Amino acid sequence: MAAHPVPTSIDQAAELLRAGGYVADRALATSLFLALTMQRPLFLEGEAGVGKTEIAKVLAATLGRDLIRLQCYEGLDVASAVYEWNYPRQIMAIRLAEAAGKAGDAAQGIYSEQYLIKRPLLQALEKHAGGPPVLLIDELDRTDEPFEAFLLEVLSDFQVTIPELGPVKADQPPIVIITSNRTREIHDALKRRCLYHWVDYPNADRERAILKSKAPGVADRLSAQIVGFVQNLRGMELFKPPGIAETIDWATALTALNAKELDAATVDATLGVVLKYQDDIARVRGDVAADTIAAAKKAAG
Ligand SMILES: Nc1ncnc2c1ncn2[C@@H]1O[C@H](COP(=O)(O)OP(=O)(O)OP(=O)(O)O)[C@@H](O)[C@H]1O
Ligand SMILES: [Mg+2]
Repeated sequence: MAAHPVPTSIDQAAELLRAGGYVADRALATSLFLALTMQRPLFLEGEAGVGKTEIAKVLAATLGRDLIRLQCYEGLDVASAVYEWNYPRQIMAIRLAEAAGKAGDAAQGIYSEQYLIKRPLLQALEKHAGGPPVLLIDELDRTDEPFEAFLLEVLSDFQVTIPELGPVKADQPPIVIITSNRTREIHDALKRRCLYHWVDYPNADRERAILKSKAPGVADRLSAQIVGFVQNLRGMELFKPPGIAETIDWATALTALNAKELDAATVDATLGVVLKYQDDIARVRGDVAADTIAAAKKAAG
């Protein structure tokens, strides 16, 4: 794919995502356009599987930038997120120098870039040939607060300090996308540095457009029924409502089974593609599924 320029309007931002197969609503295109224009991180919150992570991937692909991903988890620390020294290589260098009778020289060079292992945050501050990279800080709610505080500093100045080497600062800030599933609230101070966008479930029109883009082999009639069914499920206060990923999987599964439209037996047999908790499946299977199929068919026309 030829790299697209940075969008200069909301329409272009929407078009940029569409070029990567991502169907955005106007509100998301607006947030993205503003984040790129104001060079501020974009903080995306939303339920599982609504397309948060995908935005960063598509952005990197369509802008022709490197994607640098920091996957967050409990206990994530500076050594895994920013840099660490390559101790084995440092020790090896000292041993070799000692053997050559030059131990003094080795001690001087040991804290130089060649012994530095660069982790995602440091990589994101470096110069990249295609322009500033896309830095995806994924599932930030999984880290703990000290890391969040550290990140706050990095995102304010786009700079980190390595005591032995000094500060490393980005010439041009990376494009930062932060995602959270809101398993806990992220601190206000960090949110304030960012533009915030809640990624919601799509409406039926947009979900059909997403299926067209991501599962082009699925017939329109079946696609409309699937979307109607899934949208109904989301209104049922299930333990885990289906995300867009589940809609795409289900459409692919039903097509693989040669289904032309929804029927009770096929739906019951494939509910595990859409719902991932036994309690939810037990609740929907049978009568509820039959009613939902009827409603989805009616809505699809
Ligand atoms: N608007 C969209 N247009 C096209 N594809 C989409 C869209 N939204 C979601 N998808 C697809 O849905 C799937 C799930 O998206 P993604 O992994 O980005 O979700 P997520 O919000 O990051 O979920 P989680 O919180 O579980 O990590 C991906 O395969 C993605 O391609
Ligand atoms: Mg994700």
